[in-house]
Amino acid sequence: MHSLLDDPEGKPEMTTPGIRIFSLLILQTLWLGTSCSADLSSPKIDDEMLKQEEIYKSEGETRPEGYVINRGLSAYTDVLSPGFDRALANLAPKERWLDIGAGEGQAILDYYTGSDDLGDGATRERRGRKAQAVAISIEDRRQPVWYQTAASLETNQIQYFFNKRMRDYSLDVLGKFQVITDLLGGFSYTDELSSFMDKVLQFLDLKGSFYTLLQDVKSEGGTNQPFYANSPYLTEIANADGSEVKVCSWLKSITCVEVTCELKTHWKPPVEAYRIHKVCNAVTVPALAKINYAAGTPPERRFLLKK
Ligand SMILES: C[S@@+](CC[C@H](N)C(=O)[O-])C[C@H]1O[C@@H](n2cnc3c(N)ncnc32)[C@H](O)[C@@H]1O
Repeated sequence: MHSLLDDPEGKPEMTTPGIRIFSLLILQTLWLGTSCSADLSSPKIDDEMLKQEEIYKSEGETRPEGYVINRGLSAYTDVLSPGFDRALANLAPKERWLDIGAGEGQAILDYYTGSDDLGDGATRERRGRKAQAVAISIEDRRQPVWYQTAASLETNQIQYFFNKRMRDYSLDVLGKFQVITDLLGGFSYTDELSSFMDKVLQFLDLKGSFYTLLQDVKSEGGTNQPFYANSPYLTEIANADGSEVKVCSWLKSITCVEVTCELKTHWKPPVEAYRIHKVCNAVTVPALAKINYAAGTPPERRFLLKK
C-alpha cells in the first residue's frame, strides 16, 4: 500500500489502498491474446473504474485527502515546466488558456484577480486585458468565489465546463487554445492516455504549448526508482515484449511536437513536468492500450504500446 505523503503545499496526492491484484505479466499475456485493437477489459478493471467515479463524485469528508482540487496559480508555476508563467503572461486578450481538470478553478481565479500576477510591467503593458480562460472538470467544483469573479468580468472571460471528460468535447464547443495546462487532471487520471493526448493536441493551436506532468514515473534520465518500495511507477508504458517505454520517449515519438521533460524532485512523489509544443498540424500519437488501472489519486495505470 502506498503511504500518504504531502507535496510542498502540504496537499497530498496518494493512491488508494493499492490493490494490484493482477500480475502485469498475466495482463500482458491476456492482452496479447486479444485482437490487439482494444484496451484490456476485465471485471477487476471495471470495478476500479467505478471506484474512480466515486472519487470524482466525493464531497466533504468523503473526499479522499489526496484528491486536491484547489491548487492556485503559484503551484502551477512552481511545478509545470519553466516558461509556463511567461507563456501565460504573454497571452494577448484574444488568446485563450484551457485548464484541463481544473478542480475549483483556483489557478484561473488567481490569474484573473492578479493575486499571482505574472510577468513584468512591460509584459502587462503589452498584454493589456487578460486572455480568456476555460476550466474543465468532470465534476462541478465551483465555489461562490468563482461565480462572483465571473460576474465581475465580461461575459465568458472565464468559463467552467463540467459533466464531461476531455474526450467528449468538440472544437465547436471549446475552440482552440494557445496555452493548455493539466496539473494532476485528465492526463494523470485518464485510462485512455493516447486518445486523451490526441484530443488535447486537436485543441492546441499551432505554436501553442501544453504544460502537464506525471507523478512517480521513470524519468527521461532514468535516475529515479518507483517512489514507493515494492510498487510500480504510477504510470507505466511497455512494449509488447514487456520492455519499458519511458513516458517522455513516448511523448517525443508524437509527430509535429517538440517535447521537454524535466524531473522535479522537490515534489513528493517527484513529478516529471512536460512541455509539448505544437509545431505542425499532422499530429500522430502512437496508440496505447490500457492493461491495468487501479483507482487512486491519481490512479495507477499501465499501458501497452500498440504496434
Ligand atoms: C485532483 S483534481 C486536480 C485539480 C486542480 N488541477 C488542482 O491541482 O487543484 C483532478 C481534476 O481532474 C479532472 N479530470 C480527471 N479526468 C479528467 C478528464 N478525462 N477530463 C477532464 N477532467 C478530468 C477532475 O474532474 C478534477 O477536476
